[in-house]
Amino acid sequence: MIRYIRSCALGLAIAAGPVAAQVVLAQTGEELYQENCASCHGATLEGEPNWRERSSDGKLPAPPHDETGHTWHHADRILTDIIKRGTAEIVGGGYESNMPGFADVLTDAQIEEILGYIKSTWPDRARTVQEDVTRGDIEARE
Ligand code: HEC
Repeated sequence: MIRYIRSCALGLAIAAGPVAAQVVLAQTGEELYQENCASCHGATLEGEPNWRERSSDGKLPAPPHDETGHTWHHADRILTDIIKRGTAEIVGGGYESNMPGFADVLTDAQIEEILGYIKSTWPDRARTVQEDVTRGDIEARE
């Protein structure tokens, strides 16, 4: 579907002529992930080595987003919040973290695309658990 939209955007850009240079083509969740997240979380979502142990500066390394990490333990609302505001702001109390907030860099739709890509790499079991956790979170807030 995304590829279809992209090719349509390209068609429009060509039809529009000089305006084409200004058309920003929609990026897939995978492309957005590689551009914004892979430098820390790994090109194949593997995370940083020894991610459970604090580095010498006292901060935690980037965890994997694949099944070996705990991204799939969190509801959509929490994941989106972490990505938008960064871990230091969420934890508060002077907690220091290398996970930046992306609220000024990515739109809500782009964050959703990235999460969609991350989820698409999970086995069914992890995806089902995360869907249940998300549903429980929504119900608890109703
Ligand atoms: C500069 C390095 C860096 C970049 C770039 C980065 N992260 Fe992180 N991320 C981290 C670190 C380090 C943590 C662990 C933070 C902590 O617990 O203190 C983390 C944690 C997270 C968590 C919480 C995971 C969990 O299981 O609790 C999510 C979700 C996340 N990052 C998503 C993203 C996404 C999506 C992007 C790209 C839009 C991204 N990160 C880019 C370093 C980074």
